[in-house]
Amino acid sequence: MMAQDKFRIWIITLFPEYFEVFKKFGVAGSALSGERGAKFELNLVNVGEYSQKKWKGVDDSPYGGGAGMVMRPDVLKNALVEGVVVPGKYPENYREKLHIVYTGPRGKIWSDELARDFSAKYWHVGDRKDLVFICGRYEGIDERFIDLYVDQQISVGDYILTGGEIAVMLILDSSLRFVDGVLGNKLSAGCESFTGGLLEHPHYTKPQVFDEVSVPEILLSGHHDKINKFRESERVRVTKIYRPDLLKGKLK
Ligand SMILES: C[S@@+](CC[C@H](N)C(=O)[O-])C[C@H]1O[C@@H](n2cnc3c(N)ncnc32)[C@H](O)[C@@H]1O
Repeated sequence: MMAQDKFRIWIITLFPEYFEVFKKFGVAGSALSGERGAKFELNLVNVGEYSQKKWKGVDDSPYGGGAGMVMRPDVLKNALVEGVVVPGKYPENYREKLHIVYTGPRGKIWSDELARDFSAKYWHVGDRKDLVFICGRYEGIDERFIDLYVDQQISVGDYILTGGEIAVMLILDSSLRFVDGVLGNKLSAGCESFTGGLLEHPHYTKPQVFDEVSVPEILLSGHHDKINKFRESERVRVTKIYRPDLLKGKLK
């Protein structure tokens, strides 16, 4: 793969340090360092370097008054142009080459289904866009930057985070898994919770007896068909207990 064929990800953030551990460890870390087949390139852009007063000028007070500070659109645009477009050598029509995501409570709520769609759309070989994530801080970012530059807003749930960094890690972690070669065992992305609208079956490992509780007998039988049937019924059982909402309209 040539450098420009890599799946490129740019993250514009006030705290690039947040991603230092993420990009080194675990499944996502291996993927982002190119260890697991698919080739990614993760670029961290420190938005503080694109303000005239270093990171102190990144935010300002809101017009109309009120609590908190707002991230300035001019600084975000500088970070996008000088921190992404120029070093990434994107052409003048860079907006057509980039998909710009802002994470915030207003976006569509992230789910397993969205993670699969996102992964299929941006991480396949062929005509696709590179991803840019904007991590908000303070009260968020100036509305004009959203209107002019953001292509998609994603929320990670109905609660408020203090910044977009954790949301971006969550989005990357849950969608990188669906890229071929990222998970060691291809099967494992196919039968986890939410596949087919059910939770996963329970897992057991050694010791066979723990605190006087044995693992279910059938798992020791060696009968793969029976084990599969048992696990399928267990998926329904645990879904009924923990997430009955997933079964709505499914069971008679
Ligand atoms: C303190 S929050 C701002 C919340 C904003 N004032 C509001 O009430 O909608 C700072 C940043 O955290 C991120 N954030 C907060 N909650 C989020 C969520 N549920 N999903 C994704 N990102 C979130 C956004 O990037 C946001 O700009």
